[in-house]
Amino acid sequence: MNGIIQAAYVIAALLFIFSLRGLSNQESAKSGNIYGMIGMAIALIAAIASIKGGLHWIIIAMIIGAAIGLYLAKKVEMTQMPELVALLHSFVGMAAVLVGFNSFLDSKMFLFSSNELTVHLVEIFVGIFIGAVTFSGSIVAFGKLNGRISSKPLSIPHKHYWNLVAIAVSVILMFTFVNVQSGAGATISLLAMTIIALVFGFHLVASIGGADMPVVISMLNSYSGWAAAAAGFMLGNDLLIVTGALVGSSGAILSYIMCKAMNRSFISVIAGGFGSDGSTTGSSDQEQGEYREMQPAEVAQTLKEARSVIIVPGYGMAVAQAQGAVSNITEKLRAMDIEVRFGIHPVAGRLPGHMNVLLAEAKVPYDIVLEMDEINDDFPDTDVVWVIGANDTVNPAAEEDPSSPIAGMPVLEVWKAKTVIISKRSMNTGYAGVQNPLFFKENSYMLFGDAKDSVEKVLQNL
Ligand code: TAP
Repeated sequence: MNGIIQAAYVIAALLFIFSLRGLSNQESAKSGNIYGMIGMAIALIAAIASIKGGLHWIIIAMIIGAAIGLYLAKKVEMTQMPELVALLHSFVGMAAVLVGFNSFLDSKMFLFSSNELTVHLVEIFVGIFIGAVTFSGSIVAFGKLNGRISSKPLSIPHKHYWNLVAIAVSVILMFTFVNVQSGAGATISLLAMTIIALVFGFHLVASIGGADMPVVISMLNSYSGWAAAAAGFMLGNDLLIVTGALVGSSGAILSYIMCKAMNRSFISVIAGGFGSDGSTTGSSDQEQGEYREMQPAEVAQTLKEARSVIIVPGYGMAVAQAQGAVSNITEKLRAMDIEVRFGIHPVAGRLPGHMNVLLAEAKVPYDIVLEMDEINDDFPDTDVVWVIGANDTVNPAAEEDPSSPIAGMPVLEVWKAKTVIISKRSMNTGYAGVQNPLFFKENSYMLFGDAKDSVEKVLQNL
């Protein structure tokens, strides 16, 4: 039986690798998901088959978990996905903490040899630490993403020193824990570290400003993987170790890619501070000048006269669910022999690939949806850029204002086109809370209103 279970674990691990491979590309993402689902089903069956006794508890827990999962998956809007993911990361963190305490309280631990016991105690300590940081950090990320906690960075004096102190005290506690091994001393060390790790996780994410949140999400994704791997070590479950390591390393790679895309150093983002010391708000408070407006009929006329159009979607397109209307207008313009392409910023929306998924769902052909690097040089030769619900990702302050919190972040240089039309509801700022000088440029025109309404009105006028 044990052989069959191990074989099932290997097959599940392979399916997870195929799944990650599939998810790296839009066209293969669907099959990637299917591989992941089959892998998870095999993993669950094998894990349950390996358990001796207490099966009814597991079945009850699975029914409750599956019911909540199904309800959430049906209810959640695409724009709420990052919050949900952050919340799910917190569950992984909490699971690692609980597994850690459970392993510590397990009396079988003392059947280990002295060396094995030391290794096991270190696993427990590190597992609980990573789990607790992931748990509280993810809860703060959840709060920031759904607006219950301000996206402004928390800035307590000497914050980096506090972080260092937390790590140093935790290391000392680990040595005490491993030395004492059991009894009140060990329990107190473990509990004290857990509290420190919870505060540390809270502080780490609370100090990160809105614009850097994408990196935080992928970083917590990575932490949740390492927390799962740590739980795997504690439980002696190879599949959990492999899966945790896959999630941990892919999350780390994603964080690195995001940091590169935003021109941030990974260390400075996780230390919580780059361009977000709370004191600089860039040009947000300065007088920006006048802005011009266009009505849907004028936008339709401008589009008709254009030979090349680039549509730049952002979070607002997702909120308004305007992708279907955007797809219809794209078809119409292409039928009029106008070249239409899409420019996608790597952090547009609220989760990686958000825009690509929405446009693919709305049947916009893949070959006209281009990444920022592929399209950024083409703006000067473009007649009309239509920005639909995007803001931070097209903010020239990133290039022009060194004091801006988003200074240095690569942006889509839409202002270089002949005419720029910006669809949004008001003059409000985007997620990073930074004012956008694009709206006040001479070639910019605001088209106010809900993105879906606006696009549909323009379509009627075409
Ligand atoms: P944002 O800068 O957040 O701007 C979106 C704009 O859409 C807002 O200014 C808003 O203006 C407008 N909007 C909202 N609802 C709308 C509606 N129904 N109709 C029309 N417009 C609407 O978005 P972005 O340009 O996509 O940039 C993404 C931001 O999110 C970046 O700061 C990024 O760092 C952050 N972020 C990204 C991620 C990932 S991984 N992609 C994760 C977390 C955070 P009005 O209120 O005036 O309408």
